[in-house]
Amino acid sequence: MILFCCSCLLQNVQGSKVYSRDSLNSFVYDYAFKKISRSRTGKLYDISLPLNYSGMEVSILRMRTRSLWMKGANFSFFDIPTRILPWPFSRRVVLVYQNLGNWSTLYYNVSNYTFVAPVVGLLAYDSSTSSPHNELIELNLMGDNPIVVRFPNVSLSVGMKCVRFSTNGMVELSNVTRNNSCMARGHGHFSIVVPSRLSDEKTKERVWKWWVIGFAGGIVGLILLLVVMIVVYKLTKGEKIKKMERQSERNEVLDTIWIGRSRMPSASGIRTQPELENSYVP
Ligand SMILES: *[C@@H]1O[C@H](CO)[C@@H](O)[C@H](O)[C@H]1NC(C)=O
Ligand SMILES: *[C@@H]1O[C@H](CO)[C@@H](O)[C@H](O)[C@H]1NC(C)=O
Ligand SMILES: *[C@@H]1O[C@H](CO)[C@@H](O)[C@H](O)[C@H]1NC(C)=O
Ligand SMILES: *[C@@H]1O[C@H](CO)[C@@H](O)[C@H](O)[C@H]1NC(C)=O
Ligand SMILES: *[C@@H]1O[C@H](CO)[C@@H](O)[C@H](O)[C@H]1NC(C)=O
Ligand SMILES: *[C@@H]1O[C@H](CO)[C@@H](O)[C@H](O)[C@H]1NC(C)=O
Ligand SMILES: *[C@@H]1O[C@H](CO)[C@@H](O)[C@H](O)[C@H]1NC(C)=O
Ligand SMILES: *[C@@H]1O[C@H](CO)[C@@H](O)[C@H](O)[C@H]1NC(C)=O
Repeated sequence: MILFCCSCLLQNVQGSKVYSRDSLNSFVYDYAFKKISRSRTGKLYDISLPLNYSGMEVSILRMRTRSLWMKGANFSFFDIPTRILPWPFSRRVVLVYQNLGNWSTLYYNVSNYTFVAPVVGLLAYDSSTSSPHNELIELNLMGDNPIVVRFPNVSLSVGMKCVRFSTNGMVELSNVTRNNSCMARGHGHFSIVVPSRLSDEKTKERVWKWWVIGFAGGIVGLILLLVVMIVVYKLTKGEKIKKMERQSERNEVLDTIWIGRSRMPSASGIRTQPELENSYVP
């Protein structure tokens, strides 16, 4: 009994696995940072995560702040413009790119909206010292150009919105710009969503369809039932008539003759002779 309870508890713990964004971010950073410890500055590295994260893509790029300011950076879904500064200021930054792929909905959600693109993340970390610490820092845009997040393979649909999840847990919706892009003025996680009302309407439509089908089916059933009842009624009535006929046949005193299909009583002769009344004179 106790063992059973224990196993139940264990299963519950495993079932309600928490997909914490913060612990994912720090796990990814630590893992990727270890992989590039002897890496070149300014080069983008694709990191292959452990098998239990398969489906997720991660890249990491270490940059001098001066170079970021002068040249910006382009990788995967992100175009980072020039004139951008880390805050608090550090001489070097590490940029981590995440594509959550089929893990997106486990870690991120927007109430009343559905994702139509994977959640991709761009996070900046302080890398001024060589020690592997993961100090998240902000990216401040000093120029006019925003960070552009390009989503390929997203077909245009009604009510489509860009969504940004900032690292402090805020969710912002904004309009999708030309070429399925989203504009951002800071780092975080991004995706494209559509109102889930559309899918609600679809289920409503389905329910309505089932109502109609059920109703029509009911009517057809009723008609069938009526027909069956009429047929049964007619059959039993016919039986009764035949029975009655048979019964009367037995009691028949009069002779019958058949005319066509119907039987008629016929008397063989006139039993009471008519008398002429005129013999009686009052
Ligand atoms: C994947 O495995 C690593 C250890 O290799 C562990 O730290 C991490 O929590 C695991 N993640 C998931 C989602 O199972
Ligand atoms: C994502 O897809 C990969 C295969 O492409 C699979 O191994 C992994 O379990 C999937 N992850 C989730 C959370 O469904
Ligand atoms: C990034 O791409 C934009 C256009 O998409 C281009 O203007 C810019 O020079 C590129 N930057 C780098 C560092 O390649
Ligand atoms: C949606 O995300 C919030 C955190 O922003 C979380 O508390 C909630 O449980 C999530 N809902 C679902 C259905 O995953
Ligand atoms: C989601 O929709 C429900 C009902 O349509 C509404 O009550 C709720 O406020 C909405 N949530 C958000 C975050 O807009
Ligand atoms: C876009 O779709 C094409 C074909 O459907 C595929 O080959 C390509 O890898 C996709 N690109 C991305 C970025 O998902
Ligand atoms: C977003 O688009 C809607 C119409 O599509 C428009 O009314 C609204 O002003 C736009 N918002 C911004 C911030 O551009
Ligand atoms: C949209 O993308 C196409 C090709 O990918 C490019 O030629 C065009 O200039 C882009 N338009 C804008 C407004 O960025």
